[in-house]
Amino acid sequence: MGSNKGKTVVITGATKGIGKAIAYKFAKEGVNVAFTYNSNEQIAKEIAKDLEDSYGVKARAYKLNILEIDEFKPLFLEIDKDFNRVDFFVSNAMIYGRSVVGGYGKFMKLRPKKGLLNIYTATVGAFVRGSQESALRMQKVGGGSIVTLSSTGNLVYIDNYAGHGTNKAAVEAMSRYASVELGEMGIRVNAVSGGPIDTDALKAFTNYDEVKQATIERSSLNRMGTPEDIAGAVYFLCTDEASWITGQTIVVDGGTTFR
Ligand SMILES: NC(=O)c1ccc[n+]([C@@H]2O[C@H](COP(=O)([O-])OP(=O)(O)OC[C@H]3O[C@@H](n4cnc5c(N)ncnc54)[C@H](OP(=O)(O)O)[C@@H]3O)[C@@H](O)[C@H]2O)c1
Repeated sequence: MGSNKGKTVVITGATKGIGKAIAYKFAKEGVNVAFTYNSNEQIAKEIAKDLEDSYGVKARAYKLNILEIDEFKPLFLEIDKDFNRVDFFVSNAMIYGRSVVGGYGKFMKLRPKKGLLNIYTATVGAFVRGSQESALRMQKVGGGSIVTLSSTGNLVYIDNYAGHGTNKAAVEAMSRYASVELGEMGIRVNAVSGGPIDTDALKAFTNYDEVKQATIERSSLNRMGTPEDIAGAVYFLCTDEASWITGQTIVVDGGTTFR
């Protein structure tokens, strides 16, 4: 694969789970990492130090609440002070807990003005604002690659997942629109849609054990997905090997969606 050494990736929500695995994958490949945290500042600082110590890259953590969409501009201005370029953007962070009440639940209990709207902001809104700020910087270095996380919960029914599933469908569609308009800047835009991956977000599901067991049974590979399974696909989309891939969704689901 062509080298990405010395380039910079911006990742939202890399304190744990999939975002953290993505940060380590890029760092391992020599890419400098700017990433965000929301509540886990101490963990974020430890990860930044570990990335620098382990891989000799530059790594910095910044505070970002994706529900506060106006925070994206100052975030990127801070990143500009520490990094002289942005080549890749990964829209990964996701909300959970109180902010999704009214959005995570049965169809008849959905509340459009509360949880559903928050999930839209955190999924589509955050992708749009992060991609806009990134694209301005990618343009200056002749192009780049943007990847949004999605989930197969927009293809198959998952209990209580209507709010997230529909917004993942929306962000995939938004990424296709972005790919058309950003293509002339040399920027590719894609989505990686994951099947169930063992992270804290999945543990927050009320039927976590059931989902885990069902995933293992449905997977052609007879196992649960890991954050590293997703990180590999995200990184691939940011390599020269993916140079004509844009406006696509790569499904990384261990074969679970088909069964
Ligand atoms: N897990 C799955 O089964 C699965 C499957 C397919 C797709 N995905 C997608 O993959 C992405 C990552 O999921 P994950 O399972 O790795 O989640 P996770 O382990 O729960 O991590 C969530 C990340 O988002 C950050 N975050 C939480 N609330 C935030 C807020 N209000 N503003 C900004 N950042 C916030 C957290 O930061 P702090 O720790 O600092 O609060 C953390 O870094 C999501 O887009 C998810 O939908 C997950």
